[in-house]
Amino acid sequence: WLSGFLAASPAGAVVTSAAGGKSLTVLYGTESGNSEGLADKTAKAAKKKGFKVAMKNLADISVEDLKKFENVALIVSTWGDGEPPEAVEGFYKAFMNGAPELKGLKFSICALGDTSYDKFCQTGKDFDDRFESLGAERLVPRQDCDVDFDDAHAAWEKSLFDALGSADAGGAATLAAPVFAPAVEYGRKNPFPAEVLDNVLLNGTGSAKETIHLELDLDGSGLAYEAGDALAVVPVNAEDVVAALLKAAGFTGDEVVTLKGEEPCSLKEAFTYKLDITGLSRAVIKKYQALAKSEELEKLLADDAKDDFKVWTWGREIIDLLENYPVEGLEAQQLVDIMRKLPPRLYSIASSPKAHPGEVHLTVAAVRYHGHGKERKGVASTYIADKAKSGEKVQVYVHSNKNFRLPEDDAKPVIMVGPGTGIAPFRAFIEERGERQAKGDTWLFFGDQRYTFDFLYQLELQDHLKNGALTKLDVAFSRDQPEKVYVQDKMREQGAEIYKWLELGGYFYVCGDAERMAKDVHAALISIVAEHGKMSEDEAVAYVDGLKKDKRYQRDVY
Ligand code: 2AM
Repeated sequence: WLSGFLAASPAGAVVTSAAGGKSLTVLYGTESGNSEGLADKTAKAAKKKGFKVAMKNLADISVEDLKKFENVALIVSTWGDGEPPEAVEGFYKAFMNGAPELKGLKFSICALGDTSYDKFCQTGKDFDDRFESLGAERLVPRQDCDVDFDDAHAAWEKSLFDALGSADAGGAATLAAPVFAPAVEYGRKNPFPAEVLDNVLLNGTGSAKETIHLELDLDGSGLAYEAGDALAVVPVNAEDVVAALLKAAGFTGDEVVTLKGEEPCSLKEAFTYKLDITGLSRAVIKKYQALAKSEELEKLLADDAKDDFKVWTWGREIIDLLENYPVEGLEAQQLVDIMRKLPPRLYSIASSPKAHPGEVHLTVAAVRYHGHGKERKGVASTYIADKAKSGEKVQVYVHSNKNFRLPEDDAKPVIMVGPGTGIAPFRAFIEERGERQAKGDTWLFFGDQRYTFDFLYQLELQDHLKNGALTKLDVAFSRDQPEKVYVQDKMREQGAEIYKWLELGGYFYVCGDAERMAKDVHAALISIVAEHGKMSEDEAVAYVDGLKKDKRYQRDVY
């Protein structure tokens, strides 16, 4: 058994980068680091082939820079509701609204996204269209990738190199093949089985919420993280969900199926460990419809039926397809082929490694609801709530998030807004500031439904107020009075003080719901800056944009 990892050094690799040969600029736009990781892979592969390679973050270049490039390979992800990664917003806006003509530039795009979202790979699509309309030449068609992006990215990379041809006009670059030592490292391709140390329900009886505090043992994993990082959890589908699906499809579970790139296994094993057996995306319905040939599904999939599609899929799962639109003679392999692989889920880490060496903590809201006559449950969150009990093992790996970090200078004041499970990274931040004995002030806005049941980490927070890791705590319990009170209302009440902290070089952080909360908090921040900084709306927007550019306004929203 090997602990830690062996360095994989390509000893003796000779890379000949032909002077005067073709150049390839690998650009990336990343939110959580996946695009950056793939860009790195493509850049290394291109170097090996002998191209003159530069790799650049879209966040660090201007649209004018594009004119200098010959061949561009862009890897960009889509975030939230079809939006570009936060750090790329500035470039995206400038590129969409006023970029130079790009005749002579050749490009291709690898777009990352998630088929369970409506605007799948939207940012990649936007860039693809815009490059074309600016006169650039597409080397190979855009590749859209789902959350299991490795194969799709590799296919795109291969076709890109085919299209680019040899690296130098005079012939293929010569290079010695590097010899890699085998590396044992826990990560995305090899998750670590972490033992559960504790699983505690944070809400009191009577709460409408079910929020779990999970503690995992990382001892011996070699996994390291920083406050602000996320932990990926590889979930397992619940037995009752697997059984119901087998029944609806008329299978025993013993049928043998083969997943792409894997050894054959039983249908039950594939359903339990390997496949997203619930997620009802457009991609899944399209593949199912090719077998079902149902008139109703055809109508739902029509381009002008997007709203109907949303309404129909809400609260429904793959099992509803089988029950409502059965396919005669459906084979187990056919059913498996419409599903995507079970994706790991990312949770913001709730602990500081300095405060809990060898451990990692999460704050997870179990998702359970009633949809169309059935009890439904979120795959990973209920796996954690129901199955990740003390002594059990959970497969995990660390997903670093460089876009969500405390200020390096501990003297800077910090304001954090994290209602519900949005508190998770801020528990880590507060612990971290405590351990570092940070001089700067630390302020938390927390909110949830009711004070009595839902004040997550109440005792800990009060301790931190006493020991100085936390300077100010403002809470908004939305359902303790007839009128809703939210974190942004508490922010507005304290607008003068917030503006003062910002003017002192403060950092502003938001974590939690992206769709409504983060938007409302953003609007509140702008109005606070306008009012207390005596600025026009436009000036306040520019001020807040400036905070973002300076990385003093960071968000971890989902
Ligand atoms: P509600 O459920 O009573 O509407 C954590 O989930 C807390 O966030 C809850 O108190 C929830 O209130 C609140 N919340 C809901 N919508 C919000 C919004 N748009 N902005 C801020 N908080 C919100």
